[in-house]
Amino acid sequence: MFVLIWSALFVSVKGSIADTGASAWGQQLCVGRYCVTLSERELTAEAGLCVVIPCSFTNADEFTPNHTIWYKCEASQKFCTDADIIFHSNKNTDTKAQSGFEGRVSSLEPDVSQKNCSIIINDLKESDSGSYQLRVHGVLNGKQDAFTFIPRVNVSVKGLSQKPTVMIPTLTEGQQATLTCTAPGLCSGSVPEITWTWRGAGGTESYITGNSTDFKTENLTDVTQRHSSTFTFNPSAEHHDTSVTCNINFTGGESTEKTLTVNVTHKKEITISGVTIVKEGDVLNLTCSVESFPPSLIEWSKLSSDTNLHSYSGSARLVIENVKPEHSGQYICAVTYMNNTLKKDVNITVIYNRAAQIIGNTTVRKGDVLNLTCSVESFPPSVIVWSKCGSNTKLHNDSGSATLVVHNVTSEHSGQYICTVKHLDTTLTSYVDVTVTWHTKIQNGSGCVLQSEGLTCVCISEGFPLPNIKWPLLNHHTEYSVITTVLNHTVNSTVSVTVKNHGNSTVECVSNNGNGEERENLLLNNKLSKKDDLCFSSKHFPL
Ligand SMILES: *[C@@H]1O[C@H](CO)[C@@H](O)[C@H](O)[C@H]1NC(C)=O
Ligand SMILES: *[C@@H]1O[C@H](CO)[C@@H](O)[C@H](O)[C@H]1NC(C)=O
Ligand SMILES: *[C@@H]1O[C@H](CO)[C@@H](O)[C@H](O)[C@H]1NC(C)=O
Ligand SMILES: *[C@@H]1O[C@H](CO)[C@@H](O)[C@H](O)[C@H]1NC(C)=O
Ligand SMILES: *[C@@H]1O[C@H](CO)[C@@H](O)[C@H](O)[C@H]1NC(C)=O
Ligand SMILES: *[C@@H]1O[C@H](CO)[C@@H](O)[C@H](O)[C@H]1NC(C)=O
Ligand SMILES: *[C@@H]1O[C@H](CO)[C@@H](O)[C@H](O)[C@H]1NC(C)=O
Ligand SMILES: *[C@@H]1O[C@H](CO)[C@@H](O)[C@H](O)[C@H]1NC(C)=O
Ligand SMILES: *[C@@H]1O[C@H](CO)[C@@H](O)[C@H](O)[C@H]1NC(C)=O
Ligand SMILES: *[C@@H]1O[C@H](CO)[C@@H](O)[C@H](O)[C@H]1NC(C)=O
Ligand SMILES: *[C@@H]1O[C@H](CO)[C@@H](O)[C@H](O)[C@H]1NC(C)=O
Ligand SMILES: *[C@@H]1O[C@H](CO)[C@@H](O)[C@H](O)[C@H]1NC(C)=O
Repeated sequence: MFVLIWSALFVSVKGSIADTGASAWGQQLCVGRYCVTLSERELTAEAGLCVVIPCSFTNADEFTPNHTIWYKCEASQKFCTDADIIFHSNKNTDTKAQSGFEGRVSSLEPDVSQKNCSIIINDLKESDSGSYQLRVHGVLNGKQDAFTFIPRVNVSVKGLSQKPTVMIPTLTEGQQATLTCTAPGLCSGSVPEITWTWRGAGGTESYITGNSTDFKTENLTDVTQRHSSTFTFNPSAEHHDTSVTCNINFTGGESTEKTLTVNVTHKKEITISGVTIVKEGDVLNLTCSVESFPPSLIEWSKLSSDTNLHSYSGSARLVIENVKPEHSGQYICAVTYMNNTLKKDVNITVIYNRAAQIIGNTTVRKGDVLNLTCSVESFPPSVIVWSKCGSNTKLHNDSGSATLVVHNVTSEHSGQYICTVKHLDTTLTSYVDVTVTWHTKIQNGSGCVLQSEGLTCVCISEGFPLPNIKWPLLNHHTEYSVITTVLNHTVNSTVSVTVKNHGNSTVECVSNNGNGEERENLLLNNKLSKKDDLCFSSKHFPL
């Protein structure tokens, strides 16, 4: 009964202090010179983890505590009962902790003489929320005594919100690395289960082959432990930008997890995509790309040109609208990754075709050289063929230019020539007319016949262009006739003059075709007796 009275006294003396409010909390609650300090009145904690109820006392000569007992009961009950015990520092006592707390509560300092009455409650559940009461057993003035503290500690247990701590070192392709996941809370309760999962792009679960995990528990103090798991694997480029999740499963079903996206330092091959053979006027569109982490700097440049064309990260596009032949050449894509520069080149070919050009003289003198060149500026070089209308002769050269050479040209070489240009699958033709000219030439068979009626002269001249035949004789005559016939390149001029007596023995014939003039004195042939003087041929006038 003394115990109860003593306890009541304590309550009556100190209860008023407690009632002054939270500001008084943390102060010492004393019985004479025996004082207890409960530094926190309201504690919050998370399910699955643990809570420490801090408690200390100062000793007094007249009261020597030897055991502490913690209870949890309804706040409306002034004193908790033995059925509400959750912790008893005397391991040998008969009184048992209420079910559900067994094995979960420990004192931070088992030696009561250390004046520490703090306890830790592990594997918290939300149902652990409530008010906790302290009772101290001891010896007062040589007699066993105990007293109960009316002020209590309220613990509020909420759902688990703390996340694991995941440490990811710098991951480099091909270099084995270890990730570490540490469970929240430094508790001494049940060992949590730590699992690792990996998700690829799109969130699909994937597996890392050849991984290994290791679980570790570190004893920090007698009542605090750190639980962690390591995940060791060989990172590769395919793991870049995927996510790793560390899940911690606590006893009681509480779980928490953390997901991180991992970066793997890597670089893949440089690729250049796009069409490298473009037609003039089209768009050149090349992309140089490299997949890497950290991203690379990509620059395009043209060989033998200082200008850098484009520079982006990850991929760089080289676009040239309306491509010209001078855009062809070697282009270089330079990739700078982690201070190293690598290059890849590409050769651009511009397909183009200019109009055919024919140079050379199309008017040639008989016996001279016909020298015509048909050339085409194009890429790839065009196949050029020279041919002549109505002839099978072909002369060709595929280097972009073909020269037609005919030595000692004759009249048969005149006519239309064709330069055929075949560029890829298009064929274009150019025509050129070749004219062979030659000096006018007075032919055998020309001559004069003097008859009773008068003088008849024939002058036969060949030439190209056609010669024009003149008779100086006619300047002195008013009565004459001239008959001109043309056959191919031959002009036949027959003049008849009425003369009684022709004094001269020769008559001059002048033939001119612009290329030259020829004069010939035709001989008089008296012996000829043929009457049909308009129908003679060269056979009738042998020299
Ligand atoms: C407290 O200590 C005294 C003396 O050492 C002892 O007689 C008593 O049984 C102890 N009380 C408890 C509850 O163990
Ligand atoms: C680790 O490897 C094991 C097989 O050894 C596999 O079952 C597990 O899924 C792998 N873990 C991950 C996260 O890929
Ligand atoms: C940690 O403490 C537990 C007991 O509390 C003991 O079984 C275990 O061996 C200790 N571990 C280390 C690494 O000291
Ligand atoms: C966590 O534990 C619960 C129950 O023990 C179980 O159903 C669940 O699969 C576990 N989760 C993981 C990630 O291990
Ligand atoms: C991965 O890299 C990105 C961009 O550099 C950065 O924002 C992110 O924090 C990195 N992630 C990790 C886990 O290092
Ligand atoms: C270049 O090609 C890419 C696809 O390869 C296309 O998206 C882009 O529009 C093109 N650019 C031009 C200017 O044609
Ligand atoms: C690249 O070079 C710069 C200066 O030269 C230096 O500060 C930086 O650390 C280098 N980076 C790497 C990845 O080597
Ligand atoms: C481009 O042309 C140059 C010179 O002709 C040659 O050395 C190089 O190998 C070519 N590059 C490619 C990718 O064909
Ligand atoms: C072409 O030939 C004619 C005559 O053979 C000559 O008069 C002319 O000058 C030549 N023209 C050229 C361009 O060579
Ligand atoms: C044809 O003409 C070119 C110049 O146009 C000249 O170089 C070449 O020697 C000539 N060929 C002949 C056979 O005269
Ligand atoms: C041109 O032809 C004439 C006669 O047909 C011949 O005498 C001459 O040698 C030829 N000249 C050449 C260069 O072939
Ligand atoms: C005149 O030309 C025709 C056709 O053009 C030819 O058949 C004939 O042989 C030529 N005559 C002479 C004399 O050259």
